[in-house]
Amino acid sequence: MIQLIRGFKDILPGEVELWQKIEKTAVELLEDFGFKEIRIPIMERTELFARSIGEDTDIVEKEMYTFPDRKGDLLTLRPEATASIVRSYIQHKLYAQDPVRKFYTIGPMFRRERPQKGRYRQFYQINAEIFGVDSALADAQLIFILATLFARLSVTDVQSHINSLGCPACRPNFKQSLNQFLSGVKDRLCADCNRRQIRNPLRVLDCKVPACKEAIEGVPSILDSLCPECHRQFEILKNALERLDVPYIVDKRLVRGLDYYSRATFEIKTGLLGAQDAVAGGGRYDGLVKTLGGPDLPATGFAIGFDRLAELIADSKVDNARQLDIFVASLGEKSRALAFEWSCAFGLAGIQVEMDMSNRSLKSQMKRANKFAAKHTLIVGENELEQGAVILRNMATKDQVSIPIENLVENVKAKLAV
Ligand code: HAM
Repeated sequence: MIQLIRGFKDILPGEVELWQKIEKTAVELLEDFGFKEIRIPIMERTELFARSIGEDTDIVEKEMYTFPDRKGDLLTLRPEATASIVRSYIQHKLYAQDPVRKFYTIGPMFRRERPQKGRYRQFYQINAEIFGVDSALADAQLIFILATLFARLSVTDVQSHINSLGCPACRPNFKQSLNQFLSGVKDRLCADCNRRQIRNPLRVLDCKVPACKEAIEGVPSILDSLCPECHRQFEILKNALERLDVPYIVDKRLVRGLDYYSRATFEIKTGLLGAQDAVAGGGRYDGLVKTLGGPDLPATGFAIGFDRLAELIADSKVDNARQLDIFVASLGEKSRALAFEWSCAFGLAGIQVEMDMSNRSLKSQMKRANKFAAKHTLIVGENELEQGAVILRNMATKDQVSIPIENLVENVKAKLAV
């Protein structure tokens, strides 16, 4: 038997109702805040991700599904959506009429990480991006939207962690003092961190190895190196969150796994998912539109890990499934042909319907009606048909009424309404 690819999964009926509920709640909220949906392709030129996420990140270095197509062009299954949205914003000059644009997109991403609970090779994200606003109020709005969404979904054990990564003016100073500090504890860092220290020292702050965490206990805070404007924007963010009653934790070690960030970064973390504790992450990426060949316009955004969010809520079990209005049972060849036509007509009229298309006994058809928890069963028997009628049985009260077949859909609708 051919099995799923490792790290990929099916979302089956029973589970998918929860996904639909999350998606509906998120879309309603984002649209209320002026975000418009954008759909972008699942594959892009590899260069797009290498240039935006950064050559020295784990994602680009070792996690992308990259392959040459038949003409030899290097293509990659998207590991995230931000780079593609920026490409689209530039390519279609979406900034031309008004640089301030808000987009959201929902869909699968691909990263070849080691699969474990909460970490998959195909996973889903809900992305939201705001272009053209340089004020940290936009970052505050994004965090507020995340907090509101989690509250609407009754997810309570989550905390917003925020940090600032500075800008090209002040980050080099921090990198210098960080490097100095790291050189002093070099012998206590893991092999990965020693490698990172040279190419991407900020990533050392994020290392999960206990010995590294201990070694960098007294690491300088990036917040002490911010230039006046970065500092001012970080204050704006904190004040706005306080005014909106969104609790936050300033986490000076919060760095992100993608290189395009500047100034505000944030993650929504939970204590309920073990090692994969980030349910959402994001931040400002002011230089990216320009780096990718567009105008010098600021941007900020987030992505929610859909799978992780669904796992957080899974226990509270959502029953979104509609109850079946009518099960159509028929007896004999001729009645089944009519039952089939009528069930199509019921479906068209918005009446949720099922029928048995095989030649089963009435008893086993009634069993199926019960299995579907149908509210009513319509029994189409040859004898009744000769009288120009069918029988409608209320499955709860077991009452049966005869209904004329003329204008059947209308007649049944009237009965269902009572
Ligand atoms: P990210 O932190 O790489 O950011 O991913 C965002 C979220 O996606 C994570 O917090 C996590 O919940 C989920 N996620 C990531 N990898 C996996 C995985 N292998 N399995 C399951 N869930 C996963 C970004 O992708 C940025 N593009 C976010 C952003 C948008 N920044 C600005 N705009």
